[in-house]
Amino acid sequence: MSQPDPAAASGLSVIARVAPYLWPAEHPWVKRRVVLAMIALVTAKVVAVATPFFYKAAVDKLAGEGQDAAWMLGAGAVGLTVAYGLARLMNVGFQQLRDALFAAVGQRALRKIALQTFGHIHRMSLRYHISRKTGGLSRIIERGVKGVEFLLRFLLFSIGPLFLELLMIAVVLAVVFDIRYLLVVVLTVALYVAFTFKVTEWRVKIRREMNAQDTDANQKAIDSLLNFETVKYFGAEAREAQRYDGAMAGYEKAALKTSYSLAFLNFGQSLLITAGLVIVMVMAAVGVRDGGLTVGDFVMVNAYMIQITMPLNFLGTVYREIRQALVDMGEMFGLLEQPAEVADKPGAQPLEVMGGTVELDGVVFGYEPERPILRGVSLTVPAGRSVAIVGPSGSGKSTIGRLLFRFYDVAEGAVRIDGQDLRDVTQDSLHARIGVVPQDTVLFNDTIYYNIAYGRPEASRTEVEAAARAAKIHDFVASLPDGYDTTVGERGLKLSGGEKQRVGIARTLLKDPPILLLDEATSALDTETEMGIQSELKAMGEGRTVITIAHRLSTIADADRIVVLENGEIVEEGTHDALLTRGGRYAALWFRQAAEEDAAA
Ligand SMILES: Nc1ncnc2c1ncn2[C@@H]1O[C@H](COP(=O)(O)OP(=O)(O)OP(=O)(O)O)[C@@H](O)[C@H]1O
Ligand SMILES: [Mg+2]
Repeated sequence: MSQPDPAAASGLSVIARVAPYLWPAEHPWVKRRVVLAMIALVTAKVVAVATPFFYKAAVDKLAGEGQDAAWMLGAGAVGLTVAYGLARLMNVGFQQLRDALFAAVGQRALRKIALQTFGHIHRMSLRYHISRKTGGLSRIIERGVKGVEFLLRFLLFSIGPLFLELLMIAVVLAVVFDIRYLLVVVLTVALYVAFTFKVTEWRVKIRREMNAQDTDANQKAIDSLLNFETVKYFGAEAREAQRYDGAMAGYEKAALKTSYSLAFLNFGQSLLITAGLVIVMVMAAVGVRDGGLTVGDFVMVNAYMIQITMPLNFLGTVYREIRQALVDMGEMFGLLEQPAEVADKPGAQPLEVMGGTVELDGVVFGYEPERPILRGVSLTVPAGRSVAIVGPSGSGKSTIGRLLFRFYDVAEGAVRIDGQDLRDVTQDSLHARIGVVPQDTVLFNDTIYYNIAYGRPEASRTEVEAAARAAKIHDFVASLPDGYDTTVGERGLKLSGGEKQRVGIARTLLKDPPILLLDEATSALDTETEMGIQSELKAMGEGRTVITIAHRLSTIADADRIVVLENGEIVEEGTHDALLTRGGRYAALWFRQAAEEDAAA
């Protein structure tokens, strides 16, 4: 898995990517909220730093030491204690106000980023999706969005305020006490921060390994569960469990390292901070003994040290989580930066279909450069005509369909529709004009109605049912207890292969495109149903350009033209009769299939 460089620069670039969401030019309300949240934040910190003064003054009153300052307004120990309580309450109040103000900003940013990533993933090429595992992909988004949330919350509300507070406390220490106190505190904090960052850096590496193991285990689990049936067919439950356990063992190891290193980190931090605390308090104690300081000063120093310690204790975790969040976000933004393999040209025009002439002109293509699949295929389907492509499995028939839909770009040559090179038109317009019934129909885990209406979501119920009738699926659906509201299961697995295929045909019929590509659209059906649908498909093909891919030659015998594809080349073409007369590959195939059908009958 590709990991972005963990250097601080990449962290900054990630933050720079998020920033525009927090300061959008077109939404003043977002900016207003950010400003108000910042004001609440600073107020909360000022109050927090002022609080120990009340505490000190109350202690001095009780001890009968020190002099009244003007700000005390002559209040007694009780009044000062109440003021102390009020100050603490105000601190929390402003913190909560800040969170409440910022929540809407943060949530809006999260939603925008998730949406942008989701949209981008849909734009990525088929090649990307085939080689990428979906489980891993959704995890990356999930972790990335969580990372953004974390970063917003902690960078803005934890690290930032912490530094502000440290700064103010430093000023108080230098002014109220003397510079030696400040030096000890600065030294302690510097050592603490350096130690924390160093150790955390090391832990991030471990954590990343843990992440990779986690993704791996998850992909294995998802893949195994998706292949549920196959696992059973081959009695491979134990093997699958072992594979999963292997991945989990890696996770376990990495997770243990994470816990051990956390213990080390926590103890080291505690050691440093306690040392600093004790030194400062010893200095104050000496000061009180020598009469330079009051007992109130002693408790105030302690209060400040505790005030510093609490958020610092948290710093290791926060820093680690922020580093982690940056890594996760880097992964997600890395995904966003991956260019879509097939992209619209700048200034691409929408495809204009006049009649729908499809032309392949010397097309050379391979999924991988070193293995050509199509080796110079030229083929013209005149507007409104039908062409059938036949040929052995793996010869490249479906590949032609994928190129026509522009899932991939050709390596050489061109694919044109009504004279327009597919690379010059927008993909949206192209996809709108081509209807595809693929070799394997995959359905959404929703109702049958939803899956058919997917072809044209604004279609009326009557139109959806008409399409279902034409695809010979209506009677079957009507016979189900839930009718059109029956859910089809993940990927449509609750339907038989033939039923799925007919739902696929119905939704394409509903889309009603001028160019139709049928890739073994009826291969899963019995001969009788197939014949019924064939006549519907034929009727639908009237006035459209139709490309049919088929194994069963009897279904394409009346195509205007038949081409035989072998090994990525057209080896024969002509009408059914002409090809039979020629006595070549097609004729041989035809007679073999006819004999098989006779034998079966
Ligand atoms: N995404 C891919 N990456 C790499 N190779 C691929 C990919 N898809 C298909 N191929 C290869 O391209 C060749 C042609 O595949 P294609 O799907 O076009 O065959 P086909 O003629 O439709 O076969 P069938 O009749 O079995 O459907 C096959 O050898 C296949 O292994
Ligand atoms: Mg195929």
